[in-house]
Amino acid sequence: MTLPLRIGLAGLGTVGAGVIRLLADNADLIGRRAGRGLVVTAVSARDRGRDRGVDLSGIDWVDDATELAGRDDVDVVVELIGGSDGPALTLARRTLGGGKALVTANKAMIAHHGKELAGLAETGDVALRYEAAVAGGIPVIKALSEGAAANRVSRVYGLLNGTCNYILTRMEAEGLDFATVLAAAQAAGYAEADPSFDIDGIDTAHKLAILAALAFGTAPAFDAVATQGIRAIDKVDIDHAAALGFRIKLVGLAEMVDGKLFQRVHPALLALGHPLAATAGALNGVVIEADPVGRLFLEGRGAGEGPTASAVVADLIDIARGNTALPFGMPIADWATLAPADRDSRQGRYYLRLTVADRPGVLAELAAALRDHGVSIESLIQRPSQADASAIVVMVTHLTEEAALLASLAQMAASPSVNGAPVMMHILDL
Ligand code: NDP
Ligand code: HSE
Repeated sequence: MTLPLRIGLAGLGTVGAGVIRLLADNADLIGRRAGRGLVVTAVSARDRGRDRGVDLSGIDWVDDATELAGRDDVDVVVELIGGSDGPALTLARRTLGGGKALVTANKAMIAHHGKELAGLAETGDVALRYEAAVAGGIPVIKALSEGAAANRVSRVYGLLNGTCNYILTRMEAEGLDFATVLAAAQAAGYAEADPSFDIDGIDTAHKLAILAALAFGTAPAFDAVATQGIRAIDKVDIDHAAALGFRIKLVGLAEMVDGKLFQRVHPALLALGHPLAATAGALNGVVIEADPVGRLFLEGRGAGEGPTASAVVADLIDIARGNTALPFGMPIADWATLAPADRDSRQGRYYLRLTVADRPGVLAELAAALRDHGVSIESLIQRPSQADASAIVVMVTHLTEEAALLASLAQMAASPSVNGAPVMMHILDL
């Protein structure tokens, strides 16, 4: 008879408790699919006295999570503590370095230390799995590393943060303010322990760095991701974008440009007909463009207990089955070193919003700033501001180089007729 896979689980928060619950609720099905039982033998969290809403009877409690790596009754460690460094990283190093398999949902740790951890896994010939780290319940890691393994990927992009998508969706649909919806996202268990990781785009950048590594066969390079979050997005931009036929989303995008890797996280306007424009609430969506398969679009719940536990347990089933695939789909020795692509020469259309003094000649001044740098206007709306005597000017540009647009913006921002910083967002014509 095949022995059960014995699990040591660190972290009993939203995801950790969800994993315990799913393993119990679907034990029979999971056992049949894995070909053996999956049994949690030891757990660790900070507060032993806290009721987790799950049955922990018969499971050993360990105060120091890093001890899970050395226990004889643990075959695989599941790290659900979080944080790129600290106890999560110590546990991961000890587990893989000690020759045991590791499953984690920790995108911050994989984005920052993916190469080192993959090296430990490769050396020790043990599994490192992190399906839950990107896009919650969507099996996008498997899609890239297995399903699309024969393809050359040219671009991967998507909505990778459930909290941001939930906030933007509810701000648009219900007119709610940013802080109210963020609090609701936290209550639903979507947000990171520090929600600034979500709203400042850092969480999306972690996930994008991982997707790019898999897609382009290179090391995760979080520091190479240009990152902008959604704090500055105003309801007025959401409404103007809608009037122009767009929806604002926080998009992470990675693509190859002349042999260099471009990676960026930014709020962007998507045409209402784009599948990602319809990806609402805490859903995530990922588009993979590859040859010869073409365009793949995956959508699903990107955060919260159930979807994340689904991905963690899928990894455990993989390990129980003996799947020994390398963490990033190929040996580290075969990874490419990719220089970061420059953004200045990128071509695109842009959405601009300026608050200006409502007096003769101001519009001509804005037009001149664009003309001076060769930027052409596709459409323009001017409305009186609701707040004061100023006017709001919204423009969509024709295709232009990013450097030219930024130079125009700097010129406008320096004008005494322009109040506050101009708002600029990319229109993603993909
Ligand atoms: P929570 O904050 O809900 O849970 C974290 C858990 O870690 C808590 O149980 C906490 O203990 C425990 N913990 C903290 N420090 C230690 C330590 N030193 N030793 C042992 N346990 C410790 O986080 P989530 O469950 O939301 O997230 C866990 C991981 O999953 C993170 O990496 C996150 O990025 C990732 N993730 C989360 C998703 C989500 O939707 N929530 C989705 C995808 C990935 P205690 O409860 O006692 O305080
Ligand atoms: N905080 C993350 C999000 C959790 O909102 O998407 C899922 O990774």
